[in-house]
Amino acid sequence: MKVFLAISCAVLTFVGCSPLIPVYAPRRDNNEYHRLATTPQDCLGCHDVSGIRKHDEDKNCLRCHRLNEVYP
Ligand code: HEC
Ligand code: HEC
Repeated sequence: MKVFLAISCAVLTFVGCSPLIPVYAPRRDNNEYHRLATTPQDCLGCHDVSGIRKHDEDKNCLRCHRLNEVYP
């Protein structure tokens, strides 16, 4: 029973957490050009991601970098 519980917890934790958005990804300032940019191509027009670790150009930037809704 204990082993079963341990495995269940491990599986649930993995399944439950995998789709999480990285919480420490900086949010985008809620300004005109950030509201208009909707595709990774838009972002790349202004941002060079080659120097940032783990940033591929084909990734969906918006999945992690949400608009900052707290400080408009
Ligand atoms: C018109 C140019 C432009 C476009 C398009 C643009 N940005 Fe920005 N972005 C900036 C500028 C300039 C800053 C820094 C000043 C500011 O925050 O307003 C910035 C700041 C940021 C920051 C904060 C960086 C930090 O160190 O806190 C993130 C994250 C970001 N942008 C992501 C994105 C993403 C993702 C997209 C595409 C949806 C995007 N930007 C589109 C110009 C742009
Ligand atoms: C998987 C999540 C994820 C994706 C997708 C992603 N980022 Fe990031 N980004 C982060 C995190 C986390 C940071 C925090 C800084 C770091 O990791 O070095 C960051 C940092 C940044 C910064 C700030 C770098 C600095 O020097 O302060 C900019 C600008 C940025 N990302 C732009 C983009 C753009 C443009 C795209 C799309 C091509 C993108 N990101 C895709 C997670 C992501």
